[in-house]
Amino acid sequence: MVRKILSYPDPELKKISLAVEQIDDEVRQLAKDMAETMYAAPGVGLAAPQIGVLQRIVAIDTSAKDEPADLIVAINPEIIYAEGECCEEEGCLSVPEYYADVKRHTKVIIKGLSIDGEEQQWEAEGLLAVAFQHEIDHLDGILFVDHISPLKRGIFRRKYKKIMMDKGSQE
Ligand code: NI
Repeated sequence: MVRKILSYPDPELKKISLAVEQIDDEVRQLAKDMAETMYAAPGVGLAAPQIGVLQRIVAIDTSAKDEPADLIVAINPEIIYAEGECCEEEGCLSVPEYYADVKRHTKVIIKGLSIDGEEQQWEAEGLLAVAFQHEIDHLDGILFVDHISPLKRGIFRRKYKKIMMDKGSQE
């Protein structure tokens, strides 16, 4: 089921998500819904708090359009190693129509649980590394716009207000 994606400045997006204690049917359904919601948007990543569920689950698929789908669902993901520094333009399904460069690590290793409850590690570089860092941030109530400079954030707030007003008048 495709769920509604919360938009900034929804207060839920600022909250810290809780670790998943047990992977039961509810969690499996949630992960399925997250993947469907992400693909429908479409986006390359989605964290559970973006659909209003404060649990530490992320769904990511950074495969190119002409490649087969490559869904990653990571439960309780944690960055255990990071190196390098890059700056790529990012967007977010919860911050429609706004993009900004964000400084991230170029390579990360993540540990967490798969949807089957198996301990797993993901080695990520490039876009996948950025996606992991962006989605894990969501679990701690951090949005990519929290990483931009105060000056840029002021510009963002004004631009975004207009974007949301335009969106409102279209509906
Ligand atoms: Ni996001």
